[in-house]
Amino acid sequence: INRLVLSIPLFLTTFYFLLLRPPYCSSSNILVVPVDGSHWINMKVILERLHSRGHNITVLRSAKSWYIPSNSSIYTSINISMLEDEADIDYYNKMLQDVMGCRSYPTFIRTFCQQQLITYMMAQGHNILARSTATIIEDTVFIKKLRDTKFDLMLTDPGMTIGVILGSYLKLPMVFNVRWINTGEGHFTIAPSPVSYIPVPGSELDDQMDFLERTKNVLHYLQSVIEQHFIINPAYSDLLQQHFPPGTDLLSLERAADIWLLRADFAQPLPAELETFMESSGEHGVVVMSLGTLISALPRKVTEAIAAAFAELPQKVIWRFVGEKPSSLGNNTLLLEWLPQNDLLGHPKTRAFVAHGGTNDIYEAIYHGVPVVGLPLLFDQFDNILRLKVRGAARVLEAYSLTKEEFLNALKDVLENLSYRSNMQRLSQLHRDIPMTPMDTAIFWIEYVIRNKGASHFKSAGFRLPWYSYFSLDVAALIIAITGIFMCSLVFVCWLLCCRRSRRKMKPE
Ligand SMILES: *[C@@H]1O[C@H](CO)[C@@H](O)[C@H](O)[C@H]1NC(C)=O
Ligand SMILES: *[C@@H]1O[C@H](CO)[C@@H](O)[C@H](O)[C@H]1NC(C)=O
Ligand SMILES: *[C@@H]1O[C@H](CO)[C@@H](O)[C@H](O)[C@H]1NC(C)=O
Ligand SMILES: *[C@@H]1O[C@H](CO)[C@@H](O)[C@H](O)[C@H]1NC(C)=O
Ligand SMILES: *[C@@H]1O[C@H](CO)[C@@H](O)[C@H](O)[C@H]1NC(C)=O
Repeated sequence: INRLVLSIPLFLTTFYFLLLRPPYCSSSNILVVPVDGSHWINMKVILERLHSRGHNITVLRSAKSWYIPSNSSIYTSINISMLEDEADIDYYNKMLQDVMGCRSYPTFIRTFCQQQLITYMMAQGHNILARSTATIIEDTVFIKKLRDTKFDLMLTDPGMTIGVILGSYLKLPMVFNVRWINTGEGHFTIAPSPVSYIPVPGSELDDQMDFLERTKNVLHYLQSVIEQHFIINPAYSDLLQQHFPPGTDLLSLERAADIWLLRADFAQPLPAELETFMESSGEHGVVVMSLGTLISALPRKVTEAIAAAFAELPQKVIWRFVGEKPSSLGNNTLLLEWLPQNDLLGHPKTRAFVAHGGTNDIYEAIYHGVPVVGLPLLFDQFDNILRLKVRGAARVLEAYSLTKEEFLNALKDVLENLSYRSNMQRLSQLHRDIPMTPMDTAIFWIEYVIRNKGASHFKSAGFRLPWYSYFSLDVAALIIAITGIFMCSLVFVCWLLCCRRSRRKMKPE
């Protein structure tokens, strides 16, 4: 879970930093195409560090961006037409309603139902992105301006295909900041991932699967392959046919990236008022609750149940909340529209974290060793929380049917049963026991790609193989054929010998 940089020998980095000084990387121009929302928060911390190291950063964003400011002291921004111009932030709230519908189905079916919703959303999103990308690439004045700037690197999130395609079009070395990519977890796109023991994201399985579960896992995998080849790739086929060499598809462009970075974690002191609130909690400590950047609308009934349960706790509660104040709210609960989540989790008074289970939540909770009560809502959140649950570090609840009693029980369990906390502390210890900080690792590899004008020597030869060669099926076919021919010959020879002997036996008679 704590692998930050994929497909790169970690010992090489360690050696580099322990025995040699970090090399100087002169100022360069970096083009950034981020994904809006929580992904942007990850990207921003990296941009801050790159800026402090003297790199010039240009961010392409939508004029209607939700979280990416046009005005910044660390980068210059350029407005382009993107997803946000046609998509609505409330889309996620609508989708939440549909997902809650799926949650009432039997376990085996509901994950396929949820995946179907994501596929439908993807199909719409990729059509918008393909149109935006075509507009950008066909704008010769804009492309000339980008070329004249002489960028050294494209830093993007492969979920934002504009960055992937534009970076390839401009022939820039590419670094991805990623976890989630089109059809699922980034590892599945670049690292060998046998579905016999690696759960496919969305399947809500863990690495201990019985036969039926492995069947389900394979079906989920096939669903993602079909999605990639019949829904996502076709959205870009016209665009790629016009502007790229024949045979190029989205997947091959993604696999051409030089380095994939997967997530990071950091903490800072709290603002004074929050510090006072935290300290006022005394020996009982504080419960922190946040359901992420995109979802603000849980059903009213559920919000009331949560507020009522919180009111019965001896702990204080800080709840990131947008919307109408619940009537059952207790005087121990502080509602905030925004909270410095990572810093709160790092506070010694924090006892538990109620989270929807986005990857940032998971990594921050692990980093600080805070046990979790999970209320997963969308996408990979169900799988993420499950990873903590199977390690005894979280309780998971169904948000769509949540009652006050269930929520209170789970909260009390996580607060009072020390096994959750100690399991989480163990994960934290493992997560932190690494040779260099995630930020240093990320910056090292970004600058590595700039210094060496790419990192194509890391690229797996496996990407060039057709699927039957990848799985050695052609070799297996040859061996089976030779064995078959040998066996047949053997049988034939035996038959000849037997016949002749029996004929010889028959003759004297
Ligand atoms: C970065 O920006 C500064 C100020 O705009 C400029 O002087 C410098 O040449 C730029 N660096 C590169 C590599 O273009
Ligand atoms: C870009 O969009 C922002 C709004 O997000 C607007 O304030 C700004 O003026 C736009 N910049 C240009 C150059 O059009
Ligand atoms: C943009 O940045 C400048 C200087 O950093 C600041 O004075 C101005 O208020 C900012 N505008 C907006 C809309 O944030
Ligand atoms: C908060 O509410 C509880 C019970 O509802 C009450 O006993 C307590 O005095 C209240 N505390 C404050 C500071 O108002
Ligand atoms: C604490 O939780 C663990 C795991 O759920 C369970 O095995 C154990 O019995 C619990 N301990 C107590 C005292 O409830």
